[in-house]
Amino acid sequence: MPPSELQGIAATPSGVALDIARVRAHLSAIRLGTTFHYFQEIGSTNTHARDLAEHGAHEGEVVIAETQIHGRGRLGRRWESPPFANLYLSFILRPSLSPRHAPQITLAAAVALVETVGSFLFRHPSIKWPNDILVDGKKLAGILTEAACDAERVDYVVLGVGLNINYSVAAMPEELRQRVTSMADLTGANVSRESVLVRLIQDLDRCYGELEESGFEALRPRWEAHFALRGQRVQVERGDQTVIGVAQGIDREGALIVEDEQGQQRSIVAGDVIPLDA
Ligand code: BTN
Repeated sequence: MPPSELQGIAATPSGVALDIARVRAHLSAIRLGTTFHYFQEIGSTNTHARDLAEHGAHEGEVVIAETQIHGRGRLGRRWESPPFANLYLSFILRPSLSPRHAPQITLAAAVALVETVGSFLFRHPSIKWPNDILVDGKKLAGILTEAACDAERVDYVVLGVGLNINYSVAAMPEELRQRVTSMADLTGANVSRESVLVRLIQDLDRCYGELEESGFEALRPRWEAHFALRGQRVQVERGDQTVIGVAQGIDREGALIVEDEQGQQRSIVAGDVIPLDA
């Protein structure tokens, strides 16, 4: 039996639209997934969720689409969004966190995502700081969070998730095939997008609740248990700054700790990490 069927909703053939009613019927989340804004096609679910948030949308509303014409990744990159194959969704959050702690939502979401995909796969997914989900070194999912804050409070956070499910390697552009994977690629069978979606919403809901109630410290051991880069030489790039050193882990705030070539502990709050000696 493919792992997806263990989760209660059988896989629909790829190319079939998401059954949002079925997802809602299985959902027992607390705050996330209150309202679904479903689109066959959209520019970017994150962009639309930001528009909704600006116009007063509530915490927990979700924008989800079958395909994105301008799917956005981190650092201005494009997110490949083939139709009816994967999950592309964005949550509107109105957290009771300080602006300083808002970036930890990305880390909490990474914990939720590895727990979700780990429950469907017989493989150990890992986190590449800050927010790539990898299996066997290939990217399975990504997170793009965008926040609107003033000095004292967070107005809203849009939490966008792209998760490759029934995206066959053969259908990927040539440049992705060596570094991107999908759940179907890893299991050898089509996976129910609805099952993954239900589990993902519930895991995100739980991890987000833990973050708000207890802080990132409560989630850090689980994040660390999936950290892909510990002990590896890495190059971290931020703008025109580069740090080369050995990744140690993350600190209480979620910053990446790298011991640089001079033996100094560097605390990196944002940037792109490239594993060296891979
Ligand atoms: C990354 O790893 O670079 C982040 C990828 C985030 C992609 C998702 S898909 C749903 C949401 N809408 C977007 O335009 N981007 C995010």
